[in-house]
Amino acid sequence: MTDEERKQKIFEEEPVPEHILVKIEEHRRRGMEVPDEELIKRPSHIEGIRAAGVINTAVLDEVAARIHAGMTTQDIDDIVSEFTRAHGGICAPLGYEGYPKSVCTSINAEVCHGIPSRHRKLREGDIVNVDCTTILNGYYADASRMFCIGEVSPARKKLVDETMKCLEIGLAAAQPWATVGDIGYAIAKYAHSKGYSVVRQLGGHGVGIDFHEDPFVAHIGHKKSGMLLVPGMVLTIEPMINAGKAEVVIDPYNEWTVSTADGKDSAQWEHTILITETGNEILTY
Ligand code: MF3
Ligand code: CO
Ligand code: CO
Repeated sequence: MTDEERKQKIFEEEPVPEHILVKIEEHRRRGMEVPDEELIKRPSHIEGIRAAGVINTAVLDEVAARIHAGMTTQDIDDIVSEFTRAHGGICAPLGYEGYPKSVCTSINAEVCHGIPSRHRKLREGDIVNVDCTTILNGYYADASRMFCIGEVSPARKKLVDETMKCLEIGLAAAQPWATVGDIGYAIAKYAHSKGYSVVRQLGGHGVGIDFHEDPFVAHIGHKKSGMLLVPGMVLTIEPMINAGKAEVVIDPYNEWTVSTADGKDSAQWEHTILITETGNEILTY
């Protein structure tokens, strides 16, 4: 059986618990946007995604141990691809919609989708996001961290720390029977209170059986709007927070790398989480 067939079979063999279906139906009747059943992962799926998360975390730990000024972003790509392969995983980015490398490395004013290159050296004072998505036995886990290279300016350090706080605030809002809009509302409110802006064009997403699933998780939003969060959903929260304006531009040459339009710094942290009956569980710790 292929990974795809195994994942599909689990949907039939492990149905969504009746009490959850009843509660979804109540919300639907009140006019709320609710997830399709295929967005609700079953115990065997969750086991698989959790195992992918363990490798994903180990990959980022390996990057954390080895990242330093003077290395190139291609060196990071080599670390990620070799370590992932050595642990039985696959790097999801490589070949994804034509993406040419195994990881995203986004420096300073780059918001996301920075492409590793042997011509780009990390310099003292840079802030860099390393975003890894790991496939294990067909299951996906997606996380990113910021790294400060040597001594960075107080403004950069603050942006990095406050962006982590934005992720934590998003995690706290990601409760069962809350909504996707509750997550974005909480994040944007905090970011704006610190004088930062929130990138709108990109966001978190359902993940686990595929790389990018529904729902789109905007990091701005309105309370009690957007899709209902139901136990068994797996999604990412990955706020991209800008020191200046929210507008972004895409590199016209590589057609991937997103940077701030005003050239000011941007930071991002990402986790994959499971919505549980009592809260959520981070699968990429
Ligand atoms: N990992 C990114 C995310 O958080 C997606 C990268 S797509 C790629 O969704 F092709 F650039 F790798
Ligand atoms: Co990611
Ligand atoms: Co993601």
